[in-house]
Parts: sequence; C-alpha cells; structure tokens
Amino acid sequence: MFRIILSAPFLCWAICLVGESLRRRRYASQRRRQACEAVNAATQSSFLFGIDWLFKFSQSAKQNRVLQYHNAEHIKYGNTFVVHVLGSSVLHTCEPEYLKAILGTQFEIFDLGSARHRAFSPFLGNGIFTVSGPAWSKARHLLRGNFSRAHIEAILPSLESKLATLLESVPSGKPVDLQPLFLKLTMDVATESLFGYSTANQAPSGAFSENFEIAQEGMALRARLGVLNAFYTDPKFSNACVAIHDFVDNLVQTALTHRSMPQPSSQSRNRNDYVFLYALVDQIGEDPKLLRDHVLNILVAGRDTTAGLISIACFLLSRNERVWRMLQNEVSRFNGKCLNFDELKSLKYLSHVLKEVLRLYSITPLIGRQVNQDTVLPGPKSLFVQKGQRVALSIHAMHRRKDIFGEDADLFKPERWETLRPGWGYLPFSGGSRVCIGQQFALIEASYIIVRLLQNYKKITPSDLEPFSETVGLTLASKNGCKVILTQ
Ligand code: HEM
Repeated sequence: MFRIILSAPFLCWAICLVGESLRRRRYASQRRRQACEAVNAATQSSFLFGIDWLFKFSQSAKQNRVLQYHNAEHIKYGNTFVVHVLGSSVLHTCEPEYLKAILGTQFEIFDLGSARHRAFSPFLGNGIFTVSGPAWSKARHLLRGNFSRAHIEAILPSLESKLATLLESVPSGKPVDLQPLFLKLTMDVATESLFGYSTANQAPSGAFSENFEIAQEGMALRARLGVLNAFYTDPKFSNACVAIHDFVDNLVQTALTHRSMPQPSSQSRNRNDYVFLYALVDQIGEDPKLLRDHVLNILVAGRDTTAGLISIACFLLSRNERVWRMLQNEVSRFNGKCLNFDELKSLKYLSHVLKEVLRLYSITPLIGRQVNQDTVLPGPKSLFVQKGQRVALSIHAMHRRKDIFGEDADLFKPERWETLRPGWGYLPFSGGSRVCIGQQFALIEASYIIVRLLQNYKKITPSDLEPFSETVGLTLASKNGCKVILTQ
C-alpha cells in the first residue's frame, strides 16, 4: 500500500494538485488586488484537472450537440464562466461588452495563442489565420486589397456559369441534397478565382476536395485538443497536407512563370481575368512558400463558411414557406435577370434573411483567443484576466440570448432585423481589427445563389422532416445536409 502511494504517477498527480491549487490562489489574490469580483466556475472535480469537463465536451462533439452543450453551460453558469483545464483556465463568455474589449479596444493583448498556430500550421503555414502581431498586420494589409468591390464583381460571371450547370443537374420535384452541391460549387468558384484554375477540371475528380476535407478535419481535431495537440500525429492528415501543398505549389510555379512573361497593360486587361494568386505574385514576388500559405488560408476561410451559410439558409427556407414567398416577391421585379452587385445589395428582405440565418446558426460559433498580459475587462462586472488565460467567445450562445434578441430568440424570424441593432451582441463575422475580410464576398455569393434559386424554382420544401442537427469542425454545417425538393 505504502509503495503504491509513493509510486511515480501518484507523486506527479499530488504535485500537479498542489501546483493547481497555488495557481488558483495566485489568481484569486491578483483579482482581489484589482478589485474585481470572482467569476462563476463550471462544476468540476478538484482532482481531475478538468479532464471530466473535457470528457463531457468531447462526448457532446461525438453526439453532434456541441452548441447545445455550450448553450446549456451558459444557462447554468451565466454569461461568463471559467473552466479549469490541465493547469490553465478557459474563460467562456457571451457578454457583448467583454467581446468588444477582447476583439476591439484591447485587441492587441488578445492574440491567437500558440495552440492555434500548432494546430493549423502543418497545413496553413504562416498565413493570416495562424499568426498574430506584426506578421498578422502584414498579412492583413496585403490581402485586404484583394477583397474590393471590383474583385467581388469579377467572380459573378464564373459563379453564374457554374451555378447554371449545378441547377441543370437538379431535377424539378425530386429530392436532392443541396449541401454537397454547394460545397462543390464554392470550391470550384474559390479555386478558379484564387488559382485561376478550377478544381472542377481536376482529374482524378474529387482528389483535391477529398484531401482538403481530410486536412480540415485534422486541423479541427488538433484545435480541439488544445495544449495536447503537440502530441498528435496522423499519417492520413500529413499525407493530405502534402498532396494539397504539391498541388498548390505547381500552381504557384505557373503563376511565377506567368509573371516573368510580358503582361498586357492594366487598362487592356479584362476585369474578369482577375486571379488572386497572380495579384499576390505581383505584391509579394518570388516567395513560393508564402504564396502557398496565403492562398490556402483564404481557401480554408472562404469555402466551407459560405457553403454552410447557403445550405443552412435553404434548409430553413424549405421549412418556412412564408419567408420563401416574401423573397420571391422581392426578386420578382427583376424578371429573372442575373443581378449585379448593387442590385444584390438592394435586396433588404434577403439581407434580413441571411442575417437571421447567421444569428441562429453562426458558421463560426466559437472564437478562441489568449491574453498575453494581465488585464481587466470593463463590463457588467470588471473582469480580471490573467496573462496566458485562454478565452472562448461564445458567439452561438450570445446570438440566442433572450435579453438581446427577445423571448422568441430561438425562432427564425427575419423581420426582427427591421428594427434590431444589437451592436457587439451580434458577431457572425467577428468584429474589431480581425473582422472577417471576406464578409462582403460571402454575402454577395450567397445572395446571388439564393436569388437564382428563387428565379428558377417556385417552391422549396423539405424532403425529410429531420430537425436541424449540427456538425462542428472548423465551422458549423448541417449534419444531415440540406435535403429538399425544388419545384419549377
Ligand atoms: C458566411 C461566410 C463567412 C463567415 C460566417 C465568416 C466568419 C469569419 C469569422 C468569425 C472570422 C474571425 C475568426 C477569428 O478571428 O478567429 C473570420 C475571419 C476571416 N475570414 Fe471569414 N467568414 C466567412 C466567409 C469568408 C470568405 C468568403 C472569405 C474569403 C474568401 C473569408 C476570409 C476570412 C479571413 C482571411 C479571415 C481572417 C481575418 C484576420 O484574421 O484578419 N471569410 N471569418
């Protein structure tokens, strides 16, 4: 018995327990010194270092109810609570004032943390999604110029031709799952505008998308593992990264060769010939690894997010005939013509519908940050946040708050946006300096696709009566796809 108690694992456990207790005491005394009140803590066993909470969290992920689980935790512990995990703590908050400070006023001290870089960099390298500080500023400055109105307008002709092909394959009055079709469409449109080469033409068909999905799933798993991701290896993930890197590297080489050839003057160039990678080559020059990192970061940021938004929008529309009819009424004045940027932006009701979809089903339901110095967040209570603490911004839970969105917050009701101005209480594209760079791009692409569906089909109805079920990887998607019947 004596030997068991003195065994190495027991000693480690006992030392960690003492360390954890000292860490919490140090935090409490610093908090008191700053005259800040204590934060609610999630109920956890004092002896398991948060493994019990992690276990419950990963169970909820397996059962496709991460968002439900998070909501329930917020209802139980309040808008802000802390979870202690493996010798550090994670602050969960859905409080608009804290989010404003974290993403806006105190942006510089809340960075991405090293865990995110470790999780994503085997695939994404040092791109806008993985870096903080000056490296991020440089990437943001470089990429921002490629999301102007003219650049967004330039993708519309390619979107129209690919969407026309998609719609031809959708039989009127028969069940179809739109989600995989939208994923393919957004991948084809994105790769064409990013690389000048659509993966739709790639043989063997689907290899790029397949590897891309494996790489994304690997990154999501690595992100969930947090500090433990340093120990994670998976040959399937590594092989997928290599395959995608090789593919993109070839396109980068083509772009670099293209650059060394005489170019038409900017005036004589067709606006629709715009290729993101070629524009980056002009900006960065000969740095193949950096070029690959930048295009892959944009592809990851833009593809599943937009496909998720359009699929969930169609899922909800198929269950809300009244909203579909209102939308048909709004677009009827265009008599079936393809809409341009300004016309798409003028569709008020459609913009309310998209806002409401993104409120109920935030495509990025949780945003992670880590604080790099001690600070106090202003808000309902002054909140002491200790250097190194990780913060989970619960966007999904915030978007369901009844005190912000009303007692009917769980209902799909686009009309609420006629008067609602929730400010920092509504952040589907995040906020502050790191606000989504592709927001306008995504909304125009989604609006275009939905308008074309409205113009081509009289009705959209569900082909199964399953309620919405989530799957959360890097972003949110519908677990059961978007199974509907479109009727002409
Ligand atoms: C419905 C569609 C989309 C949603 C809901 C969305 C949401 C978001 C959110 C919440 C962030 C902040 C993430 C964080 O700080 O951790 C973000 C960042 C970003 N998004 Fe989007 N996004 C969408 C579409 C797009 C598209 C289409 C593109 C590009 C083609 C794009 C490019 C980016 C980039 C580059 C960032 C990083 C910005 C930075 O860190 O400075 N997004 N997006």
